[in-house]
Amino acid sequence: MKKVLILNGPNLNMLGIREKNVYGVETLQDIAQKVSEEANIIGIDFDFMQSNHEGEIIDKIHGARGVYDVLIINPGAYTHYSYAIRDAIKAVEIPAIEIHLSNIHSREEFRSKSVIAPVCVGQICGFGSKSYILGLHAAKLL
Ligand code: DQA
Repeated sequence: MKKVLILNGPNLNMLGIREKNVYGVETLQDIAQKVSEEANIIGIDFDFMQSNHEGEIIDKIHGARGVYDVLIINPGAYTHYSYAIRDAIKAVEIPAIEIHLSNIHSREEFRSKSVIAPVCVGQICGFGSKSYILGLHAAKLL
């Protein structure tokens, strides 16, 4: 069975509280539950983690080498400036899928630039929590 690591960056632990008009009312726990249900249906083995710390996310990416087949990452605001996370994804040579709840291209100018996207197979954004489900399906297809 394909093994997928789902990584969540800073402030995603605040889902359900933060900017509900943008990110919705579901908590990250709710999303993990939905992902789990879908993963059971389509036959994916996954781990789900969140960190507010760049170095911890990088350590998780390094540790994924030889363990996971695909990375799904919502890097939060690190999307827009973390060359270190970008280099980590490039280094481990695991296919990665970038996901976002919101459509980063229709918001503030600074959000439309992702420094992570160029090292990913592709990007899914704008579908709310369904971006995670779409990411899972994309991982299954890789
Ligand atoms: C986000 C979009 C980012 O710009 C923002 O900093 C986040 C959440 C999203 O899922 O829509 O924290 O990654």
